[in-house]
Amino acid sequence: MTTMESLIGLVNRIQRACTVLGDYGGGDNAFSSLWEALPSVAVVGGQSSGKSSVLESIVGRDFLPRGSGIVTRRPLVLQLHKTDQASQEYAEFLHLPKRRFTDFAMVRKEIQDETDRVTGKTKQISPVPIHLSIYSPNVVNLTLIDLPGLTKVAVEGQPESIVQDIETMVRSYVEKPNCIILAISPANQDIATSDAIKLAREVDPSGDRTFGVLTKLDLMDKGTNALDVLEGRSYRLQHPWVGIVNRSQADINKNVDMIVARRKEREYFATSPDYGHLASKMGSEYLAKLLSQHLESVIRARIPSITSLINKSIDELESEMDHLGRPIALDAGAQLYTILELCRAFDRIFKEHLDGGRPGGDR
Ligand code: GDP
Ligand code: NA
Ligand code: MG
Repeated sequence: MTTMESLIGLVNRIQRACTVLGDYGGGDNAFSSLWEALPSVAVVGGQSSGKSSVLESIVGRDFLPRGSGIVTRRPLVLQLHKTDQASQEYAEFLHLPKRRFTDFAMVRKEIQDETDRVTGKTKQISPVPIHLSIYSPNVVNLTLIDLPGLTKVAVEGQPESIVQDIETMVRSYVEKPNCIILAISPANQDIATSDAIKLAREVDPSGDRTFGVLTKLDLMDKGTNALDVLEGRSYRLQHPWVGIVNRSQADINKNVDMIVARRKEREYFATSPDYGHLASKMGSEYLAKLLSQHLESVIRARIPSITSLINKSIDELESEMDHLGRPIALDAGAQLYTILELCRAFDRIFKEHLDGGRPGGDR
């Protein structure tokens, strides 16, 4: 692993440890500022625009509930942790700390079951997030957030307030300055009506942290194409638009796997008369690469402020540990200790690196 990967990995683990700790300390302390200093990526878009599908492609595994209608009904905070080449892939939920999932179909089932546990088997939503970590040699260290889709009308079984409730929930994630926004719009709908672009523009007017993603290119009417959008003529964003072809509902029903889906997507762009010239800058794999590059540059730029927050956390934690005689939940004590150790490790690697040269270099 490069130094940058180690640092990002530590940041990821600190975030996770802070999550486990919950709102210990009232929420407004060094840990909450630490959490907010660290970047995460959230998907925003209308219902069934392809948000969950895009996230799955970025991860490269099948594990998210997808489908027509309101499938994602609670935020899913997904942390990817890169492990050594040799190790096995597994997933772990915060609410089931002792259980390692190696079958990703079971991960999907647990997300569905855990959604139902809070919302009932209804079309209700809940702002209470589900936390999931995936450990794998094949991922980049990254926090991704899957969110319910924005909607314009309540359907049968939903309260009228749901339209506003979803928007408020989504907004609470994407308005944070550390949030990188994947604004998902389906190509078979008029982009002028895109809820994703509308909300992204509101919370990120400069567009520094918004990536426009156009899904369902394969579903556009014959004789039309999305070149005006993809080439930045109709809706110019800071970052280039990325076009995507996810699995269709028929593919999902036939259990078309990720490898096949990626190959079909590559072929789609490579052989497309409209998009052939853009093929190297389209598709899920390219989007994943673009995001990890962006993330790395964001973290590189934030290292000084993350380091000082970490030092502040170390100070707070050390004085906290001094008080450990007083009644404090055992788990919280162990968790504080973990955070302290992770912060120290970050500080050590960062300093060693400073001695060796430029921070974030690949030596
Ligand atoms: P979400 O509600 O925004 O999370 O969207 P999902 O990822 O659950 O996808 C909703 C539906 O649209 C599913 O049936 C997907 O198979 C389908 N879908 C998503 N993206 C594409 C795409 O690029 N092409 C096609 N043909 N179908 C897609
Ligand atoms: Na959906
Ligand atoms: Mg979804």
